Amino acid sequence: MVGRKVGIVGAGFVGATAAYSLTMVGTCHEVVLYDIAPDVAKGKAIDIGQSTNYSPKGTIVTAAEDASGLKDCDIVVITAGVPRRSEMTRADLLMINAKIMKDVVGNIQKYSPNAIILCVSNPLDVMTYVVHKMTGWDRNRIVGMAGALDGARMSYQIHQKVGYGSGQTRAMVLGDHGQNMIPCPEISAVGGVPLEQVISKKDMEDIIARTKEGGSEIVKYLGTSAYYAPGRAVSVMVEAILDDSRIVMPSSVLLDGEYGYKDVTVGVPVVLGANGVEKIIELDLNEETKAKFKASVDSIQEGIDILNENNFFD
Ligand code: 2OP
Repeated sequence: MVGRKVGIVGAGFVGATAAYSLTMVGTCHEVVLYDIAPDVAKGKAIDIGQSTNYSPKGTIVTAAEDASGLKDCDIVVITAGVPRRSEMTRADLLMINAKIMKDVVGNIQKYSPNAIILCVSNPLDVMTYVVHKMTGWDRNRIVGMAGALDGARMSYQIHQKVGYGSGQTRAMVLGDHGQNMIPCPEISAVGGVPLEQVISKKDMEDIIARTKEGGSEIVKYLGTSAYYAPGRAVSVMVEAILDDSRIVMPSSVLLDGEYGYKDVTVGVPVVLGANGVEKIIELDLNEETKAKFKASVDSIQEGIDILNENNFFD
């Protein structure tokens, strides 16, 4: 991969924090921020660019004046979209963000036709589906960020309970990035020790509930969505792709028969490497998890159905 240029569409908190995280780790050579508010992109690019004087690689950070600044990116991260306001229905929000996605995707196809797209906009799984439909690209090139964040949140909750193993916990969260996400203690471990051997059933239930509430807990305190953990989760996925490190990471991908579903995007473990999604890992789910997975897929399908009913893809 030549150049190692990462475009970030949407210079809000998540986009800017992802950019900052990327520069602090030093995986890419250049980060370009693009936002419909050019001054926001400019101001944050200058600030982050000045921070890189002390970063490992002196990563170059620029702001795109217009969409053409996204030219020749290896990866484009999409964080654009509006949050739900009280007067909006779920369908309103879906339509608004799907339209934003349509514009963004058109620009990426024009200026970075060979890029891998990392979708971060919400509702995450449905927006990742929109990117697939709009581009028609091979499915390995489009990946949604969710499990990386939800797994980090679950690991945090596990540490809160046991008090050891910080940084050694690997927690698996499958399904949608929403109410029906599926934290999976049976395939999570702290320092390689199966969770079920060190955590009681009651504590596990608490961990699962708090993981699912992870995003809204932060909104409750800050009045706005989280950005440090989402930003870092984006950068860890970008690094895996640029470095071809082939890490296993639950991510939202388009299924084509895996897990018994087709033409829907949902979080499952995948291998991330230079081609984006190198492989989808099909877990052998028990009956209970299969039922939860179905509920999760159904909730994503409802969102896709709303877009179809409103002729979004015509
Ligand atoms: C979160 O879960 C908003 O998706 C973001 O915090």
